[in-house]
Amino acid sequence: MINLGILTISDKGWRGERDDKSSQAIKESLSRLNSGLLKYEVIPDEASVIAAKLAEWADEGSLDIVLTTGGTGLAERDVTPEATLSILDKIVPGLAEAMRAKTAEVTPFAILSRAVAGLRKKCLIINLPGSTKAVTECLEVILPVIPHALEIIKGEMTEHITPRKE
Ligand code: MTE
Repeated sequence: MINLGILTISDKGWRGERDDKSSQAIKESLSRLNSGLLKYEVIPDEASVIAAKLAEWADEGSLDIVLTTGGTGLAERDVTPEATLSILDKIVPGLAEAMRAKTAEVTPFAILSRAVAGLRKKCLIINLPGSTKAVTECLEVILPVIPHALEIIKGEMTEHITPRKE
């Protein structure tokens, strides 16, 4: 079982001015894995709030993976990547690189997301863009490698089995 946290980062969502459909899209995509949602919150686009929440969730130790949605773009209030980087122990650049590269083939705007991914302790934290479409497209790219990544992080995997493309 993969223990999941979803952190929606949106000023409008936090003020109750927008429905949080992106977290729903994450839940739907993650239902393809054996996962359970342990934590979910909507917070504003404030770097200190984002960093504190991510550190709190990772340090508490129950979550294998935290997916954030929103705040990865170029607007003044978009600070999710900087806040995430400020609390990571290790970055895992390939996840964000692959999301941008693969999904840009269908959505050129994908390269405008500054999303990052990495580890804090044994928790894998991955930024996703804010739209439901982006969430679904990006998760399609990275979901096939997530179970293997989490096994390595937990120290359960000693041999590497190459995933096949469908
Ligand atoms: N990535 C994919 N795969 N699909 C998308 O539709 N939207 C882009 C980009 N990434 C998009 C995407 C757009 S339009 C923006 S502005 C950035 O993500 C940043 O979005 P955010 O600020 O909501 O995180």
